[in-house]
Amino acid sequence: MTKTDIVILAAGKGTRMRSQLPKVLHKLAGKSLLSHVLDTADSIQGAEKIVVTGHGGDAVREAYADRAIKLVEQSEQLGTGHAVHCALDQLRPGSKVVILYGDVPLISAATIDKMLAAVNDNSIALLTIQLPNPSGYGRILRDSNGQIEAIVEQKDASAGQLEIDEVNTGVMALTTELLADWLPKLDNKNAQGEYYLTDLIAIARQSGFNVCGIQAPSPSEVEGVNSRQQLAALERVYQLQQAGKLMDSGTSLADPARFDLRGTLVAGTDNSIDVNCVFEGDVVLGSNVVIGPNCHIISSRIGDSVEIKANTVIEQAVVGDRAVLGPFARIRPGTELGSDTKVGNFVETKKAIVGNGSKINHLSYVGDAELGEKVNVGAGTITCNYDGVNKHKTEIGSNSFIGSNSTLVAPLSIGEQGFVAAGSTINGDVPEGNLAVGRGKQRNIAGWKRPTKNK
Ligand code: UD1
Ligand code: MG
Repeated sequence: MTKTDIVILAAGKGTRMRSQLPKVLHKLAGKSLLSHVLDTADSIQGAEKIVVTGHGGDAVREAYADRAIKLVEQSEQLGTGHAVHCALDQLRPGSKVVILYGDVPLISAATIDKMLAAVNDNSIALLTIQLPNPSGYGRILRDSNGQIEAIVEQKDASAGQLEIDEVNTGVMALTTELLADWLPKLDNKNAQGEYYLTDLIAIARQSGFNVCGIQAPSPSEVEGVNSRQQLAALERVYQLQQAGKLMDSGTSLADPARFDLRGTLVAGTDNSIDVNCVFEGDVVLGSNVVIGPNCHIISSRIGDSVEIKANTVIEQAVVGDRAVLGPFARIRPGTELGSDTKVGNFVETKKAIVGNGSKINHLSYVGDAELGEKVNVGAGTITCNYDGVNKHKTEIGSNSFIGSNSTLVAPLSIGEQGFVAAGSTINGDVPEGNLAVGRGKQRNIAGWKRPTKNK
């Protein structure tokens, strides 16, 4: 297997972002720009990754401390050719090298593979694209045979060259040996006083190499982020692509332009998702799931035929088949709802195991709790799980009924078929089948005179 070294340039300042954060750490679909490139690079067989940092290098180093990448410092940004030169020591002899950019997040593995396949003893590869407005880009110069001959930067180009609409994407592939040979030959005698990586193309031709031009399959693959507006535009492109894939796999979206996935979503078929839902982390949906508008679902597993009504938030939870949630339910980490459960409006659950067929329909907090099957938790029930220092557990047996506005002071266990009278404060165990009443006895005072206003 050939070795591949992927060099990712990320030393630029990103002035137009107007940010303290290095540009490559800004996020697209919840993931930093650089992580997009690294994750794609990970899918290239046998690839090692070398990231060239400069501005904000410490922050980048810190963010990737645990990742298997090599970081190289370019202390002064003397141009793209100089940046690759800084990585030269890290490249392995005999490997093919691809140059990518930390601020060009949507390059695909297929394109990188195509570039690598074009590199051989006679050829290097250059990724180009035709743009209706090529302004700002390096233009591709071709000879009379149509072969790529050189790249001329916008600022160095003649009026005639500026008419060319085929541009350099910056992505290039060649070998370690050729880079080692050619990079020292670059000079900075140009309009910007920089060492241009693009000058390698002319050097390649002078050295008898062919430059294989590969057309980028879409502009979004090679689009860079220089401003927050460009970042937002690319985010939309990416989200539309994800929405498209989801629809193709059998899920309906009320509006693909109002769908956001910041992570992964594995979905069965015949699901339907209303507008403004955000999915984060790794989410799994079964089939026939109906999700209402404005739901936020994070790192959770949702079963078949579940209905999630408007404005529901679900995080690190498991939801069983045919459960009905919301509107306005908040399902917090560690919640496991069984099948046929119901969690209604303004109910918050946390670390709650809820057995099949149980219902918590209105205005409750159920935390650190384990409910059996077919439990009915009345409106306004609160599990008092925290004594100010420690958390305690509430257990409620199957077929129990908790009356409305009950306060369950944990630790506490209610046996099966237990019954708690509405408005009770319960702070001791309730044996199986018992009725627990924990409230003041009602007194009726006859002839009660209402207060009257002072004259
Ligand atoms: C570069 C290309 C141009 C191409 C365009 C595509 C050169 C000389 N020009 O121009 O032909 O059309 O990209 O977007 O290569 N960087 C470093 N260190 C440096 C300089 C740059 O790491 O010393 C990084 C930047 O962070 C950035 C990338 O390289 O991610 C491109 O640099 P930039 O100066 O923006 O290149 P362009 O002028 O756009
Ligand atoms: Mg520049």
